[in-house]
Amino acid sequence: MNQSVAAGEQEKHAVLPVPTGDEFARQEFVKSLKYHLSTRVAPGIRDSYEKRRAPEFQSRAGRLPQNRREVREAMSADPYFRMWSALERGSQEMLWNSVQVSIERQLPDLVAAAQAAAESPAAQQLGSLTLDPSVATPGYVSAVDIHLMPGGYYTEVCPGDVAAGALYDRGVYVYANGRMGPRNADPGDTAAAFFRQRFPDLAPRRVLDLGCTVGNSTLAWVDAFPDAEVHGIDTCAPVLRYAHARAESLGQRVHYAQQNAERTNFPDGHFDVVMSCLFVHETSRKALSRILREAWRLLAPGGVMLHTETPPYGALPPFDAFMFDWDTRNNNEPFWAASHELDPRAECEAAGFPRDAVFEASPLSHYSTTQSKPKRVFKGGEVGGGWRWYVWGARKPG
Ligand SMILES: C[S@@+](CC[C@H](N)C(=O)[O-])C[C@H]1O[C@@H](n2cnc3c(N)ncnc32)[C@H](O)[C@@H]1O
Repeated sequence: MNQSVAAGEQEKHAVLPVPTGDEFARQEFVKSLKYHLSTRVAPGIRDSYEKRRAPEFQSRAGRLPQNRREVREAMSADPYFRMWSALERGSQEMLWNSVQVSIERQLPDLVAAAQAAAESPAAQQLGSLTLDPSVATPGYVSAVDIHLMPGGYYTEVCPGDVAAGALYDRGVYVYANGRMGPRNADPGDTAAAFFRQRFPDLAPRRVLDLGCTVGNSTLAWVDAFPDAEVHGIDTCAPVLRYAHARAESLGQRVHYAQQNAERTNFPDGHFDVVMSCLFVHETSRKALSRILREAWRLLAPGGVMLHTETPPYGALPPFDAFMFDWDTRNNNEPFWAASHELDPRAECEAAGFPRDAVFEASPLSHYSTTQSKPKRVFKGGEVGGGWRWYVWGARKPG
């Protein structure tokens, strides 16, 4: 990690869109609005639930709501919840708009920077970029503008387009208010630290990141295992072009390729680690089964598959699960609910892993533990005691 990054700033690199003063002010406004909604407005939803809607439900049903669906039944017409929900949705639309304007202004320069990285002689590149136009964008990636991000990860409006990558990189930083670190790498850093602690005997020679987008988590694994050969795959060319130029500019060696994680072209047993971050919740259930079977095929004996996501609903009280589920219905995250309710043991077993090789954990966010302002804000208020990610996976016997 570049120690020269100023506190609270996103790390600069050759393809990061740099906002003008006005664009920066607009992005800062969105950050402040989101913070305000989470810390000042959202807590009132719980009040309204506890003081009015839960008692109403109880007088009708003879008991309190038992799960997120019943909380939703009690809350969906609540005016305070509806006001917050409309503002939250508006803030998400404003977030992407505030970044998009800045990217459109700089797009020719960003495309040229990415092209320069991709076209420089192979010997001068640290890693590589392999695009394959025959790789189709899966329907579950293109059907909606995922999390309201205009055009998703795949849309291209000019040759060599990188706008989707720039939009994700800068947008996630603004969305998270910088709390995922200067490289948005917190899930990847946390997963790598967890892996090291859980599997101290394993020094991975090859690591594969599924659904790598711009490499936020891929780079975390390069940092954690500098001797490993690290690969990142995604189906979408614009984010991969961006990822490659970004990694080269940051002096990180990564091999990026346009491939579908459901069926890759790597040989059997090629990797010691097959991992993903914030990827599972954006794939369909059918695709996930195929992806887990592919991970099983790709792992060397003794290798580890691990996926990092936000906490499963089962770990949350019904009201919190209801709030967490907001994204499914309001933020174009059609697989959010199902992914937060899957059974890792059953999924891994169906893919070939023995049941007793499966693990689940809730490691404290790496960034929470290393920064002086660890508080993570999520819907419904600040997370006391630091944010925790959810890591699940399995080790292949051998
Ligand atoms: C939320 S992003 C992942 C974020 C990234 N891992 C990180 O840590 O910042 C999901 C990514 O998965 C990609 N994706 C979805 N389905 C895929 C598949 N079957 N194969 C490869 N990539 C896929 C999408 O194109 C998108 O870039």
